Amino acid sequence: MTLTPDTPRRTLFLNAALVGKPAGRYSVLVDGGVIVNISTGAVVDVPEHTEVVDLARADGSQGWLSPGLIDWHTHFTMNTLATRRLDLSKARSAAAVLEAVAKHIDDPAYDEGGRFVARDLRNAEWPDADKLTRAALDAISATKPIVLVYNGYHSIQTNTPGLKLSGRDTDTDEHKDHSGFLVEADAFGFLVHLQDTADANVLDAWVIGEAERAASLGVTEVVDLEFAQSIESWERRTDKGFKSLRVHIGFYPHHLDDALKRGLKTGDAIPGTNDLVTAGPFKLITDGSLGSQTAFCCDHYPGNPDNRGILAFQGDEIDALCLRATTGGLRLAVHAIGDDALRLVLDKLEKHSAAGSHPLRGSTIEHAQLVHLDDLPRFHKLGLIASIQPRHLVDDRELCHKFWPGREPRAYAFKAIVDAGIPIKLGSDCPVAQLDPWEALACAITRAGPGEQPFVKEQIIDLETAYAASTHNGKLHIAEGERADLVVLGSNPLEQDAAGLRAMVVEGTLLGGNWTYRRGTKA
Ligand SMILES: *[C@@H]1O[C@H](CO)[C@@H](O)[C@H](O)[C@H]1NC(C)=O
Ligand SMILES: *[C@@H]1O[C@H](CO)[C@@H](O)[C@H](O)[C@H]1NC(C)=O
Ligand SMILES: [Zn+2]
Repeated sequence: MTLTPDTPRRTLFLNAALVGKPAGRYSVLVDGGVIVNISTGAVVDVPEHTEVVDLARADGSQGWLSPGLIDWHTHFTMNTLATRRLDLSKARSAAAVLEAVAKHIDDPAYDEGGRFVARDLRNAEWPDADKLTRAALDAISATKPIVLVYNGYHSIQTNTPGLKLSGRDTDTDEHKDHSGFLVEADAFGFLVHLQDTADANVLDAWVIGEAERAASLGVTEVVDLEFAQSIESWERRTDKGFKSLRVHIGFYPHHLDDALKRGLKTGDAIPGTNDLVTAGPFKLITDGSLGSQTAFCCDHYPGNPDNRGILAFQGDEIDALCLRATTGGLRLAVHAIGDDALRLVLDKLEKHSAAGSHPLRGSTIEHAQLVHLDDLPRFHKLGLIASIQPRHLVDDRELCHKFWPGREPRAYAFKAIVDAGIPIKLGSDCPVAQLDPWEALACAITRAGPGEQPFVKEQIIDLETAYAASTHNGKLHIAEGERADLVVLGSNPLEQDAAGLRAMVVEGTLLGGNWTYRRGTKA
């Protein structure tokens, strides 16, 4: 069958098994981008111009249809860049990092337009962390900018050209003795600058490729919390053929005026993007992170009585920004990692709610990595969602023991959150963790990497809860009348253990009735 642009886009699946539904041989008709009919009876007449996909296999098994998957927390462009950068997460010492940098500094595979950028340094256990200095990197190259990004994206080590690239002139008195180490706002600002000054044509092509890779994992939708303003970027990418995902773009405080001026409310389509890109939430980062000991906590960090972490904004700023976003029609996505940051945010939102400005439906607390169990009932009462990234607990379990000792039972307390009636949504926070919903699911149900013991096993959540928190419609199953954003799987995800989830075979992905991925072919 040849499809012309005028041909109605119809797909009929036969002999499908449906995730989350009783066993059976279902027929599913997709027409005009919508799932129009799900039945178990024999299909008498196949409408004209219909692609028929029979999911029966020779061995009697069937292919499984599931709603498409969503990643609720990505930094999509940054992730695209990151996947091309040298991964140093396995380096066990500063010496190992220096050796790897020296080895790859001139490797074209890592050439980011004349810069060398590596990622994911994890220094918690290094015996020689203080050896990674500006001078040590200058000894590798005094001309090419070297930028080493620590895990979590809250800190960066540079050499002298790297520091200069960040806007700090080392020939001036102010910066001549700068360590080359940048944290928090300085680190974020520099990462955005690196991205903003990257070649847009190269970057767009990489982003379109990364979206196709996401589709190959069964992903149909992402929330993109990119630090840089991305309206124009996605318009441009759509012109260049981007079509693999729905993208909800977030707005940070420095984008808020612009978003409100454009009259954008959460859910509104961004013009010129084929309705694939919509206005997402207002994103507010209130505190730091666990790894950099900047998450704002009720208790101080071990050995440092003066440090409970930091707040990125004063309480009254958090107050005003959230209120403006809410009254402007934007749902909230508030980053709160430490228990005191969460407490502060809940205080503010309760106050707004009491005054009639309730956070919009779908508003999230991002991360919620350390919670006071006492705060969960009011979290629930506010109708907020916990947007969580299960892979973080696997990556950061040692940091958690080190920096939040004794508090582990309420760290990444997913079960307690679910039991309090708080809806959860899963995500990766890529590039901090990989964009891979199967990995997130595996971590949620085991709280461990492959072959590891669970981290606080009491907080394991069940697969059905985790799966529903990973689908675009929030359900286990597809339904008539819904958008045909669906995925064809090789086996029933709800019957898998962590290894089975990690090895899940995606046969194909459909977005609004169009194939965005088909195994073994180019969509
Ligand atoms: C769905 O398809 C079945 C089988 O072809 C048919 O009997 C039924 O009437 C259809 N339902 C709707 C709502 O179109
Ligand atoms: C699906 O393809 C049709 C025809 O090319 C197009 O008009 C429509 O916008 C596409 N839908 C999505 C969700 O990409
Ligand atoms: Zn993030």
